[in-house]
Amino acid sequence: MANTILVGAQWGDEGKGKIIDVLTEEVDIVVRTQGGNNAGHTVFLGDTKYVLHLVPSGILRPRKRCVIGNGVVVDPVGLVEEIDVLEGQRVRVKGRLFISETAHLVLPYHRELDARREIRKGRQKIGTTKRGIGPAYGDKAARTGLRVIDLMHAERFAGQLRERVRENNAVLRAWGAKGLSFERVHAAYRAAGDRLRPLVANTMILLNDAIARGQSLLFEGAQGTFLDVDHGTYPYVTSSNTTAGGACTGSGVPPHRMDRVVGVMKAYTTRVGEGPLPTENPEIADLLHAMGREFGATTGRPRRCGWFDAVATRHACRVNGIDELAVTNVDGLDTLETIRVCIAYRAGRTRYDHVPSDAEVLAACEPVYAEFPGWRTPTQGARRWRELPVRAREYLQALAELSGAPLGIVSVGPARAQTIFR
Ligand code: GDP
Ligand code: IMO
Ligand code: MG
Repeated sequence: MANTILVGAQWGDEGKGKIIDVLTEEVDIVVRTQGGNNAGHTVFLGDTKYVLHLVPSGILRPRKRCVIGNGVVVDPVGLVEEIDVLEGQRVRVKGRLFISETAHLVLPYHRELDARREIRKGRQKIGTTKRGIGPAYGDKAARTGLRVIDLMHAERFAGQLRERVRENNAVLRAWGAKGLSFERVHAAYRAAGDRLRPLVANTMILLNDAIARGQSLLFEGAQGTFLDVDHGTYPYVTSSNTTAGGACTGSGVPPHRMDRVVGVMKAYTTRVGEGPLPTENPEIADLLHAMGREFGATTGRPRRCGWFDAVATRHACRVNGIDELAVTNVDGLDTLETIRVCIAYRAGRTRYDHVPSDAEVLAACEPVYAEFPGWRTPTQGARRWRELPVRAREYLQALAELSGAPLGIVSVGPARAQTIFR
């Protein structure tokens, strides 16, 4: 059975949750390997909407197991709340969700520092989700982080936390913010830790044993290629490796056990937060927002929207080694007369066929467009490739060719059934 890494090929929110839900049918375990509750993955089952932040989307399929891997940063209080919401929606979590004991914790001072840094940056702000993700990964790299395993040891956790709250309060106060109460943080985290205790495991062993028994894994990417701390539009990125390599380091499953990489992308482009977006276009944003679409699943912010950027997706295919593309939200373009696709960038006299590494250069780039005639027919009812309008098929085929990977899946609506296998 194949082990599959699924990644976002753009700036996040590509519809990964929906495609994960579809692909979960074929696998045994779904694994999150990086990011935290900055992610928001939407899955519709009938009329019920589920938004997953830390819990892998596979939890919605009753017989599947789910893992939060070592590369994820876990806010235990947020995770308990998410589990409570899921259980309120009659999703059984106990015995099916496992949390890595070496995953790092997001603490309230991380959230405070995240918010304060954004204010201090002023116009240079990143537009983070304010979930404390950057400061938590900062502590991990600086070796001052606390991990799930620490939370499981009462005395060790209390000692480490007291010290960390004291240090971070000094920074917060120097920035004119209020310090945090150790007692309050400690009480909330101990309570969450006790709730999570039965779910904590050595997930590296769990996953490698599962592979040895012939089980198959699906690695649920979060965020997208251009939010990767190494390969994205730095500094307008998140603080982790959102590209395919992150699935290995974030789970302890070695590269030679990975069989294929699926890249998810929208039939257009969106981004939430600051940073360059060469194909941004207010017309397409107004169209999608008027349909009630493209509002953030985590923060509710309206997403910035633009035409499909094939320079970006080509870059994503290379850096992730994408074997197969899943194109979502095709139905979002149903009403357009003409659809544009960015095939290169131009800055002054320089033409770029790849994404320049400097975000300032990228911000100065103008897109070079190719135009496609729209199909002006509703596609949400299509269930087979040949049921799509010819012009939609031509458009999708062009997206795959320009990106440099074959088209595997087309999504024409949020529901499971609105999925076409090519
Ligand atoms: P993720 O973070 O990549 O999982 O994506 P989000 O859930 O943040 O945003 C994607 C949005 O698009 C969600 O509201 C999905 O329900 C929705 N969606 C996914 N695929 C389709 C599609 O093919 N058509 C439509 N209309 N909506 C879709
Ligand atoms: P999913 O998994 C879209 C963006 C934020 C901000 C930048 C840094 O749902 O695709 P952070 O809080 O991570 O420090 O914010 O990254 N961002 C996302 N954008 N989808 C996401 O996740 C995102 N997670 C973070 O908006 O620009
Ligand atoms: Mg999302």
